[in-house]
Amino acid sequence: MFTTISAVVLAGVFAASSAAYGALAQKRASTAFENPASGGGSMFVDTLNGLGEPLNVIISGLSSPEVLNEDGLINYAKAIGFSTECFGIHLGDPFPANLGDGHGPVNQTVELRQDFGSSGVGTCLESLIGGNHFRVYFQNGPSANTGAAFLAVSKEKSVSDHHDIVTDGYDIGRDALVSAAVGTHDFGGKTYVTAAENITGLMAVGSQGVNHGIAVDGIVTLLTVTVQ
Ligand SMILES: *[C@@H]1O[C@H](CO)[C@@H](O)[C@H](O)[C@H]1NC(C)=O
Ligand SMILES: *[C@@H]1O[C@H](CO)[C@@H](O)[C@H](O)[C@H]1NC(C)=O
Repeated sequence: MFTTISAVVLAGVFAASSAAYGALAQKRASTAFENPASGGGSMFVDTLNGLGEPLNVIISGLSSPEVLNEDGLINYAKAIGFSTECFGIHLGDPFPANLGDGHGPVNQTVELRQDFGSSGVGTCLESLIGGNHFRVYFQNGPSANTGAAFLAVSKEKSVSDHHDIVTDGYDIGRDALVSAAVGTHDFGGKTYVTAAENITGLMAVGSQGVNHGIAVDGIVTLLTVTVQ
């Protein structure tokens, strides 16, 4: 069942939960995520040109802990049709994000690209012909250690277009990733079950401050991933 819940309602839930579990805040997640703005951060990656890319998917801190680290997230990404970059050749610049967790601006942990069917080689294909890709940031600083993974997802043009984003590429990229993720998927001996819900109110609707002047619909999709 698809639901849209407002960030205002969620904020209340998270606040109550933070208070209840405050003593455990240094340990493992007891909340789905914290709004970066509450800690002086932003739902936009800094693209170093005065603009930003939306962090439009969050993998909940209430997901199975083994998904919420670099290796675990890469294995999950492979299960839903992504791979690490073409033989380690990095074609995108690192961009920092501030998740309001006390770490300040931090570059992406990893960048993954759509894998057109054949592990590794398919990712090279994505680099050439364009496709979906995302950068990953973990909310794991001392003041908001939720463990949640924030993803900046976008659909790109080909490398000959300098990896620009297609029209509506942020919303399209998010929806494509979410469609590929929901349900049950296997990779590397793990079975993942993913549920999605949309959250509004975390980021503004429109194109102001958004890289390439591409408008966003303001929706952030929260994924909860459970390893079976
Ligand atoms: C989230 O919003 C997008 C865009 O409106 C929609 O296509 C999708 O079905 C929604 N997903 C959920 C889980 O509600
Ligand atoms: C991100 O990486 C670049 C290139 O390695 C580096 O110059 C920059 O200082 C890094 N930014 C942050 C916030 O760590």
